[in-house]
Amino acid sequence: MMSRKCLVVDPMHESLFPMLEAMGWQVDYHPGITRSEIREKHRGYDGLIIRSKTMVNHDLLGEEPTLRFVGRAGAGIDNLDLQYLASKNIHVLHAAEGNRDAVGEFTVGIILGLLRNIPRAHQEVINGIWLRESNRGSEIMGKTIGIIGFGNMGHAFAKRLTGFGCKILVYDKYKHGFTNEFWQEADMDQIFAETEILSLHIPLTDETRGLVSAKRLELMPEGGTVLNFARAAIVDEQAVVSSLRAGRLGAYVCDFPSATTRGVAGVIALPHLGASTSEAEENCAMMVADTLRDFLEHGNIRHSVNFPEAALPRVPATSRTRRPAPAYPGG
Ligand SMILES: NC(=O)c1ccc[n+]([C@@H]2O[C@H](COP(=O)([O-])OP(=O)(O)OC[C@H]3O[C@@H](n4cnc5c(N)ncnc54)[C@H](O)[C@@H]3O)[C@@H](O)[C@H]2O)c1
Repeated sequence: MMSRKCLVVDPMHESLFPMLEAMGWQVDYHPGITRSEIREKHRGYDGLIIRSKTMVNHDLLGEEPTLRFVGRAGAGIDNLDLQYLASKNIHVLHAAEGNRDAVGEFTVGIILGLLRNIPRAHQEVINGIWLRESNRGSEIMGKTIGIIGFGNMGHAFAKRLTGFGCKILVYDKYKHGFTNEFWQEADMDQIFAETEILSLHIPLTDETRGLVSAKRLELMPEGGTVLNFARAAIVDEQAVVSSLRAGRLGAYVCDFPSATTRGVAGVIALPHLGASTSEAEENCAMMVADTLRDFLEHGNIRHSVNFPEAALPRVPATSRTRRPAPAYPGG
């Protein structure tokens, strides 16, 4: 059998390794490797497996990479230069759904904690302060919750909200016709004008950068909350800080601490915890291993973010060759 070698450069759930090794792969695990070490080492490997830490682009792999694939054990792909990788015939396969349950539960948990003032009340008790009246909360029941982005994460969150008796408005630029008894399709202006709690579940792209702008924040009902567990730059943080200080926006909760928001009253910043559960890490590792197995053993392309999906059933006792043609996203 052809020797197959794969370099894993980000911390990874242990379930990945036996699955790849069972396929006859040599897996070299270097979670503490530096960027310059990856530059020296990647040649001679067929695949690179990452999470969200490593930025994979021309700067890392150069003009003539030997890699055939990059496996991303997670959903976000903003740390990959997809156009460059496609131009080098390097497939990017990710674990699209592996952490949606974690993010869905997390988002609901954060809303409940906020509405009932759990972080503040806990801190007060630590400081010896006992305040019931000023920590009286409110309920999700009857509120209007807005979701931007109705992919894996947005949908998982919406599903979990359905038992709470709230109104759910959803905007997705590329998906339509999904209104049902639980949620209602809305346009961007309606989302900002009506939602008391807005949650972002879109990728960071040229289109979504700065989408939550000063102008759109002005449209939100006073005292509203923005939850950003997608990517920092989707929100104009300076505008958020100004709106909080002016008493318009009630709270901003994000998974991406920054110098702009640090210490600002009304901001809760977390260290990228949205998908951080043991179950999600295991799901992502297993999903990416399974997708790679199907790609490498059967030539099927599933969960690819830079080549079209292509999966054909196997015909027993036949073999298959794969010859990828250069492809360019959007081309
Ligand atoms: N905080 C975390 O730990 C964590 C975990 C997983 C994912 N994420 C982030 O969440 C993002 C979404 O993940 P996903 O798995 O749901 O992706 P997805 O591709 O399944 O869904 C994204 C949705 O956004 C929509 N969309 C794209 N551009 C849009 C635009 N300009 N306006 C409105 N909608 C638009 C798409 O049509 C799609 O339905 C990821 O890209 C990642 O950045 C964060």
